[in-house]
Amino acid sequence: MGVPTGDVEVRYLPADRMVVERIIRWQVDHYRESFPSFDYDDWIDFYGPHMRGQDGPLPVVLGAFDGTECIGTVAIVERDDLDDVDHYTPWIAAMIVDPSHRGHGVGRSLLAAALGRCRDLYFSRVHLWTHDQFEWYRRLGWREVESRKFRDIPITIFSLDL
Ligand SMILES: CC(C)(COP(=O)(O)OP(=O)(O)OC[C@H]1O[C@@H](n2cnc3c(N)ncnc32)[C@H](O)[C@@H]1OP(=O)(O)O)[C@@H](O)C(=O)NCCC(=O)NCCS
Repeated sequence: MGVPTGDVEVRYLPADRMVVERIIRWQVDHYRESFPSFDYDDWIDFYGPHMRGQDGPLPVVLGAFDGTECIGTVAIVERDDLDDVDHYTPWIAAMIVDPSHRGHGVGRSLLAAALGRCRDLYFSRVHLWTHDQFEWYRRLGWREVESRKFRDIPITIFSLDL
């Protein structure tokens, strides 16, 4: 909701990395002399929670489209359906490519887009679990952090630092 002030409209700050980077430049410049210890990271700590959003930027569901046809999808969620993993957030979830379009880089593109969105929200680490795609994620730089069972099936939790 906007609050008009003359010609200027005051709106919620968008979860937009370009906007926040610009504001942080103002802040760092402004405080450089008096508070040189206020550095970029302090401002990220300050704006990060906003960017991650109390008003809920997650879940995000992305689709890969070939023209109008959706050929793959991936989601970013705050919490996954495993027990006792509240210390891990967010999660890349529900990654899938249409079987007839696999092996052509669609999955990689979806994952790259999802990771880009996580970076824009100032997450520094993301997580996922898989019961069968270990090699795919390893090749893309993910590292295994934990093995366990989910509904009696062995799964592995992977993390990636952004
Ligand atoms: C896993 C999945 C999403 C990969 O999507 P995709 O579009 O086929 O993958 P990409 O073509 O982007 O793969 C990128 C690279 O990984 C390779 N690759 C593809 N599938 C792979 C697999 N299962 N294991 C190892 N490498 C694989 C590709 O050959 C490609 O290699 P290159 O960069 O050397 O050419 C897709 O196979 C799928 O939907 N599987 C079923 C659902 C699923 O398992 N989802 C993951 C749940 S955790």
